[in-house]
Amino acid sequence: MRTGLELLREAQAFSARLPLILLTGQGDHEIDLKAMKAGAADYLIKGQLTSDNLERAVRYAVENWRAEERLRRERDLISRVMQTSPVGIVVTDQLGQITFANHRAEEVLSLTKDAIKNNNCGVLGWCVTDPEGYPIHDRPLPLKQLLETGRPVQDVCHVLDFPDDRRVLLSTNAMPLLDSSGKIDGMVITIDDITERKKLETQFLRSQRMESVGTLAGGIAHDLNNVLAPLLISVQLLKTRITGDEGQKLLETLESNVLRGAKLIKQVLTFGRGINGERIPIQPVQVVQEIEQIVHETFPKSVEFQADSAAGLWVVPGDATQIHQVLLNLCINARDAMPAGGRLSIKMENMVLNKIFHGGRNPETKPGSYVVITVTDTGTGIPKEIQNKIFEPFFTTKAPGKGTGLGLSTCFGIIKSHGGFINYYSEVGKGSAFKVYLPADTAAVEPKNLAVESSTLPYGHDELVLVVDDEVPILTLAEATLQHFGYRVLTAVNGAEAVSIYKKHQHEIAVVVTDMKMPVMDGPAAIIALKAINPKVRIIGMSGFNSQGGMTTAKNAGVDYFIPKPFATEVLLHTLQKVLHQKAVTH
Ligand SMILES: Nc1ncnc2c1ncn2[C@@H]1O[C@H](COP(=O)(O)OP(=O)(O)OP(=O)(O)O)[C@@H](O)[C@H]1O
Ligand SMILES: [Mg+2]
Repeated sequence: MRTGLELLREAQAFSARLPLILLTGQGDHEIDLKAMKAGAADYLIKGQLTSDNLERAVRYAVENWRAEERLRRERDLISRVMQTSPVGIVVTDQLGQITFANHRAEEVLSLTKDAIKNNNCGVLGWCVTDPEGYPIHDRPLPLKQLLETGRPVQDVCHVLDFPDDRRVLLSTNAMPLLDSSGKIDGMVITIDDITERKKLETQFLRSQRMESVGTLAGGIAHDLNNVLAPLLISVQLLKTRITGDEGQKLLETLESNVLRGAKLIKQVLTFGRGINGERIPIQPVQVVQEIEQIVHETFPKSVEFQADSAAGLWVVPGDATQIHQVLLNLCINARDAMPAGGRLSIKMENMVLNKIFHGGRNPETKPGSYVVITVTDTGTGIPKEIQNKIFEPFFTTKAPGKGTGLGLSTCFGIIKSHGGFINYYSEVGKGSAFKVYLPADTAAVEPKNLAVESSTLPYGHDELVLVVDDEVPILTLAEATLQHFGYRVLTAVNGAEAVSIYKKHQHEIAVVVTDMKMPVMDGPAAIIALKAINPKVRIIGMSGFNSQGGMTTAKNAGVDYFIPKPFATEVLLHTLQKVLHQKAVTH
């Protein structure tokens, strides 16, 4: 047999939460107290049991039990809400020491229950940041001010640096906690981890900024191209006419400088507007071999070089010269980051990016197959404060004359125009790794022979060429060049004039060389009109806009050959030869 008290304890052990009223013997006061302490709802003394007594005790016990049950459910709900809240919630005492943190806050702040219990995690050391997320150390601390004045904290960004080098950005809101007399005895803070969001935002802003600088640079470069084109053609023409050694030397200096200017412009255009160049299947290993040679020949011996490639590397459709330029830029940066020497390595591997990766750190990443080329150095590393800026054009930490700050922005432009992207990881004092992701062609394709064509300039055989450009100096010089190299030339200053000349001489004209941007009738419109006259007309497009856009417009209009301005005589003559020897075309 069990006593009433034993029964009560047993019921509690089964977590039965029903109210229990004990019937106790008369005068056994101690047992009565024990029963109440153990959680009995009430006790009734056997001898004094009346129906009134019993009814009151039962009603009271039931009411009491319901009230407790309500309270318990509320407490349970609050606790579950706290623990499942996607927002971190932290409560502090009046000294700013954390006394409670919900599950999310523990996670974000890497807090342990023990640390909270031992009272050694405070919030008053949290550092405020600027809108970009960089710490400002001399700003008054809003959480401290809240404890002093009660002024709530709204959407303030804090940055926390953890010993494992992790940096977390928090968006915080806080309100004071008041005691019954209205005095501040702590605060409640909500925290939202915005590290990833800020990263994406910054990346987005950066690419927007790059885009606007690119547009601006593209416009300027277009005009500069038109300045350089006649210069280059004149110099090349003069070289064939002036025979004296001294004159030739001067002309060579002039030519190399004009070419250098054209190269600079091309670089600016490449970063801003993309690419103009033939896309051929490239084997990354081949490009890296060329880089290796340059590194061995020109880098200090204290820089150790190593290249590794996974077996069965895919082919990348692209412009070999530009991919070469990207890798060389990255290697030069690596060399500059290791003034006392170190290890420079290039690793190549295939990688399939799935949807999960897509949209993560790189908003512009598309799922698909990539060849990833990683250039790693053991140099100085890049401080966090400038990591955001390194891809900006003209951002450099190098001494004047040592760097223009165009290296990485050019890489960015080239890789973007190839449909790829660049990632980097860097730790100060340890080194950096730049990862270039290039969309790959997974079907096995043999790369074209990259050998440079013979440099002797091909002459024409009295073919008639119609040159169309609104820039008269370019027209005049193109005319002189072509005549010098054995062609006959007709010129037109816009599309309309070209069409009317073509109508008159269509059976004689072998090729039309036309600019794309012209007043009255532009290139694409003229091409359509020319094709209406003769669907097999042979056309070479040219444009100062060294862009994918110029080439695409030309291609859409049915032009298979395209030369960027300013073109070297060599390019114009070789392209003419290619077009003229196209077998399929007949008049
Ligand atoms: N591997 C690296 N290690 C350390 N810092 C780097 C590295 N790569 C780039 N940087 C930093 O990024 C900045 C910008 O690089 P970028 O290549 O765009 O220009 P630059 O090297 O200064 O000049 P340029 O390439 O035009 O000669 C550098 O000045 C340097 O501070
Ligand atoms: Mg550089």
